[in-house]
Amino acid sequence: MQDRLLVTALIAGLFCYGPALSFSEPADQVSDRMATVLGEALFSKLWVASPSSTTASDGLGPLYNARACSACHPRAGAGAALPDAGGEAPDSLLVRFGNGVDPLVSAFNGVQLQHRATAGLPAEGRIELSWSGQTVELDDGSVVQLRKPAHRVHLRRPEMTLAYAQLKFRQAPTLAGSGAFARVPLSALEALADPDDQNGDGISGRLSLLPDGQIGRYGWRALEPTLSAQNSRAFNLDMGMSTAALPDPHGDCGADNRACRALPSGDDPVNKETEVTVQMHAWLDRYVAQLPPPSGRAEAASASGRALFRTTGCQACHRLDLPLDTGGTLAAGTDLLLHDLGPALADADGREWRTAPLWGASARPALLHDGRARTIIEAILWHGGEAQAAQQAFRGLSASQRSQLLSYLESL
Ligand code: HEC
Ligand code: HEC
Repeated sequence: MQDRLLVTALIAGLFCYGPALSFSEPADQVSDRMATVLGEALFSKLWVASPSSTTASDGLGPLYNARACSACHPRAGAGAALPDAGGEAPDSLLVRFGNGVDPLVSAFNGVQLQHRATAGLPAEGRIELSWSGQTVELDDGSVVQLRKPAHRVHLRRPEMTLAYAQLKFRQAPTLAGSGAFARVPLSALEALADPDDQNGDGISGRLSLLPDGQIGRYGWRALEPTLSAQNSRAFNLDMGMSTAALPDPHGDCGADNRACRALPSGDDPVNKETEVTVQMHAWLDRYVAQLPPPSGRAEAASASGRALFRTTGCQACHRLDLPLDTGGTLAAGTDLLLHDLGPALADADGREWRTAPLWGASARPALLHDGRARTIIEAILWHGGEAQAAQQAFRGLSASQRSQLLSYLESL
């Protein structure tokens, strides 16, 4: 009971009263359970602009896409479905600017479009969703309608324009279970990688080697080496907040956006704290790292479905047996490697994507890096490149084999 009161006080402090109350407890005296509760509170917390009377909650913006992690990852899950009718994009779909973009665009807008801004500052622009239809016929004659994105980005500065080919759309993936990706030993990933396809199976797969020598494991392109780095990137790019790792309190304001750069920040120079303090970051990281994996429908698993998963070639990338350094194996349905999935899924930065984990996939409102697929079947039909043979094998299945495979996927 006492424990619960104290937790309530800490959370209330986080939301309302500022650092005096919220951080009066020395960090090492916060119990593990309480640290998780605090992390969860930070995940759902609505940040506000600075200056404000609630200094423990301020620092949002000036430019941002959403005020809370949970706005894009509801219940720590994946982002919202993208409406067939087109129109306004949900907050959970982001757009970044790719290679070849006009330097004026990046100098003003940074690397990502923020469609919201704190009071007084205009936002950078907005995404307008639109689709073109595409029909695919499976070998047994049934027909599947795909929708191909043709979204537009309207920048506030009309003299700056963007072509679809210069854009990179990213939807929010589920976070459930992703803490385990850090616990797969590097040696296991190295053993799976086959960048030159020396075994001749048509599947290469390479480690995401980052410029600083680290190996990327997080994000659709595996560009972040750790959960903490990914969380920090989210704070800075998606919410405009400074962290120890990414200390710019103006987030993604471009150098030429003087009005944005001139706004006050929520950094605390006296205590040398960034807007997101080291302690808050640690609690949030801990919460995300401990999220349990999604649970599939165990009753949907069948030996025939499992065999089809292997024989159609899905398992070559969507591995169910990655070793963990804590013992046991990880059945997430990913090898954490980058694969060339062909031209239909390519964007401004190329054709390679991290194998998307399949656990819980059948419950996700939107699939693939840009959320274009509404169903598992649609997601599979977009596969090309290294996965072309698997996609063709899937198209060749009979209706009953297809439903065995799909219900097996529901079990993951
Ligand atoms: C505006 C929407 C938005 C907000 C807010 C947001 N995210 Fe995300 N998140 C995304 C998108 C989009 C991606 C995919 C990014 C990529 O691949 O480059 C992502 C990816 C991630 C991943 C990688 C998961 C994986 O499997 O690789 C983690 C972890 C994550 N976010 C955590 C957070 C945390 C923690 C917060 C709050 C600090 C947060 N996100 C806020 C949209 C958002
Ligand atoms: C060559 C490696 C490879 C093979 C083979 C492969 N996939 Fe994938 N799969 C990927 C990659 C990479 C992605 C992410 C692509 C993207 O987001 O654009 C993906 C994405 C998916 C998704 C979407 C998941 C999500 O959360 O968005 C599903 C579903 C899927 N694959 C199912 C399958 C099935 C079923 C098979 C077998 C018929 C298969 N894949 C074969 C690499 C592969």
